[in-house]
Amino acid sequence: MTISSVPFITLNRFENGFKENFLNGVTKLVDNTQFVGGPVVAELEEKLSAKTGANYTVGCANGTDAIQVALRTIEVDKDDIVLLPDMTFWATFEAVVNVGAKPVTVDVNRETCHWDIDTFKEAVDKFNPKAAIMVHLYGHASPDTMAIRSYAKEKGVLLVEDGAQCFGTKVDGESILGTALIATTSFYPAKVLGASGDAGAIFTNDENLAKTARVLTNHGRTTHYTHGLVGWNSRIGSYESLFLNHSLDHIDARLDSRRVAINYYNEHLQGLPLKVKLSASNVEENGYCAVAMIDPSLRGALIETLKGAGIGSGTIYPGAMSLQEGADKYMHGKIDNGNADYISKAVLNLPCFAYITQEELAYVVETVKKHFS
Ligand SMILES: Cc1ncc(COP(=O)(O)O)c(C=O)c1O
Repeated sequence: MTISSVPFITLNRFENGFKENFLNGVTKLVDNTQFVGGPVVAELEEKLSAKTGANYTVGCANGTDAIQVALRTIEVDKDDIVLLPDMTFWATFEAVVNVGAKPVTVDVNRETCHWDIDTFKEAVDKFNPKAAIMVHLYGHASPDTMAIRSYAKEKGVLLVEDGAQCFGTKVDGESILGTALIATTSFYPAKVLGASGDAGAIFTNDENLAKTARVLTNHGRTTHYTHGLVGWNSRIGSYESLFLNHSLDHIDARLDSRRVAINYYNEHLQGLPLKVKLSASNVEENGYCAVAMIDPSLRGALIETLKGAGIGSGTIYPGAMSLQEGADKYMHGKIDNGNADYISKAVLNLPCFAYITQEELAYVVETVKKHFS
């Protein structure tokens, strides 16, 4: 078969029988009127704990809520200062503002696209924050993750880890979601572990934090009609949980196929102005996205060539947080070395999704090479 297009991402390369199993399960949920909560959610939380190594998993409505729940769980309150990376998805910034706290954006390292320990220390020493949100973008992670955790602990800074993109990623051989003080993820359908709609989760090894997180996601309930906290409704849906339960049975194969794709790009696109990044050597990435860097002046033309060849691409993300119009009125401070801004103009994401084929990869590589020849 000759390939003439490759989507940036596609969500429907399901394993044989996956869709049928899910739909049969939906029928049972409807027959049993299990619309909210129930065994399907308990099963998901157990499976997620087993997979991540976290003692406690609390499902919730989406990845943005998960961060908000985590911040509220560690008692981030009105006017508390919270650090976040200048290079992330806007939801990280929103979560800080939505709990009433004051965001400080901290620049990332230009090579790794993540925080480094020196900039993190500078930010902590300068702003004395109550909390910080480390984001594991692209399914990569900072090579300094453990050093950042240690410094935060030493300084009494409560560290939330936004793992919306890092399900399955390891640092120094350790599961990120299983070893954080409190971590979050998103099951938005385009994530490596995507649901059939919006969903998210909070992970921790601390029983008290887990209890608080669960209470917050369910109207602050201590019993059905008593409310120990003001929370909100951020319960995870049953259909989404069912879909995730089936997806978890295939997650290793899905992640492997993504990692194969990224390694293929890296290997076959050497010596070109487009450099496909691999994560740092102490980080095992999950294959969430293929990240390449290119001189910003060359990016537009390559995107056009890819488009002309029917190939989708992405620019995740095309603007630093501190430069968003919506940030102005909330910014408490920033450390800006120009790196997030540069990365946002230089990043180019190639097609990457579970079970992308060799033919599709070869077509993308051939098109990129031809563009530069
Ligand atoms: C880094 C990051 N944080 C938070 C979120 C928010 O997740 P959700 O869309 O499930 O609310 C996302 C999702 O795109 C993300 O990529």
